[in-house]
Amino acid sequence: MQENYKADGARYKTMKYNRCGKSGLLLPAISLGLWHNFGFADNYNNSREIIRTAFDQGITHFDLANNYGPPAGSAEEVFGSILKKDFTTYRDEMIITSKAGYDMWEGPYGEWGSRKYLVASVNQSLKRMGLEYVDIFYSHRFDPSTPLEETMRALDYIVKSGKALYAGISNYSPEQTSDAISILNNLGTPCLIHQSRYSMLDRTVENGLLDVLESNGVGFVAFSPLAQGILTDRYLKGIPAGSRASKAHFLKPENITPVLIAAISELNGMAMQRNQTLAQMATAWLLRDQRVTSVIVGVSSVKQLNDNIETLKNIAFTNEEQEKIKAIINDI
Ligand SMILES: NC(=O)c1ccc[n+]([C@@H]2O[C@H](COP(=O)([O-])OP(=O)(O)OC[C@H]3O[C@@H](n4cnc5c(N)ncnc54)[C@H](OP(=O)(O)O)[C@@H]3O)[C@@H](O)[C@H]2O)c1
Repeated sequence: MQENYKADGARYKTMKYNRCGKSGLLLPAISLGLWHNFGFADNYNNSREIIRTAFDQGITHFDLANNYGPPAGSAEEVFGSILKKDFTTYRDEMIITSKAGYDMWEGPYGEWGSRKYLVASVNQSLKRMGLEYVDIFYSHRFDPSTPLEETMRALDYIVKSGKALYAGISNYSPEQTSDAISILNNLGTPCLIHQSRYSMLDRTVENGLLDVLESNGVGFVAFSPLAQGILTDRYLKGIPAGSRASKAHFLKPENITPVLIAAISELNGMAMQRNQTLAQMATAWLLRDQRVTSVIVGVSSVKQLNDNIETLKNIAFTNEEQEKIKAIINDI
């Protein structure tokens, strides 16, 4: 790897950029998530090469959270170190996010949605990444024990104090989202974006959330679009060494059943007929919906990243293909 990085001059030629709801912000159709493969436990040069390759192809949006690693916090430190080495002159071309909500440090102030936790956490994240501000700061999950007003006031404070440019929420139900949007509107810090799981294998957001977001002009980003790797060719012939399922922590091998793999094989056959990989078809299927601003993929290699970016060459589906996909995924 070259020590001195210079971004590809053609980086904005092929990426598609979508407006995030009714805001002024454009996000790339494909974003990169750093939940896995960017911690101290992972190969630093591989992480660095993935981030360079992403930026070289117009991926401007890098999704982080306080607890990404392992260990928790280390993805932000690794990313901060890569930023310092390679991206100091490109900061204004990047959208960098962080979040707080899940378990991060010991004691009563290290998780959920209090003002104490969110403000302390964003300060820690800025320090780990060596940044003056993040572009988007999220409440990572709804806290049933904290008044929603308090959590939203914390986001409003974080934005107004310049620690973040925009506020977002993640993993909120349609009703919680609607309430959060109206509190944030009243505070004068509109909700920019909602981040939730969405894939062919988990369509929960179709039950009202996407409608709430659309009617309020709020953007939507889909996480785990490949169902952590199930919606790819990764597990068609068993569980490969080094794969996420082989680590048996977030993706359990027992959930990759023969019935599931039979359906995945059918989808894989369809993808081949479209001259795509299954990963590409699964991502394209999400991007077919105009309400989806961006799809955040996770990758363990540059090869996977390049495969995913190629998705944009074909995101159209015939009615027949849509019906066939629906029939397969409704049966799972
Ligand atoms: N807001 C939230 O609560 C939340 C929760 C989860 C995730 N997220 C965000 O969403 C991002 C993406 O989530 P995710 O990592 O679960 O996404 P994903 O894209 O569904 O899964 C990523 C995994 O799929 C496999 N993969 C990716 N591209 C592939 C390809 N082209 N061919 C074969 N296999 C491929 C890799 O598995 P191997 O590692 O086995 O190679 C990779 O680690 C996270 O990094 C994070 O930023 C947010």
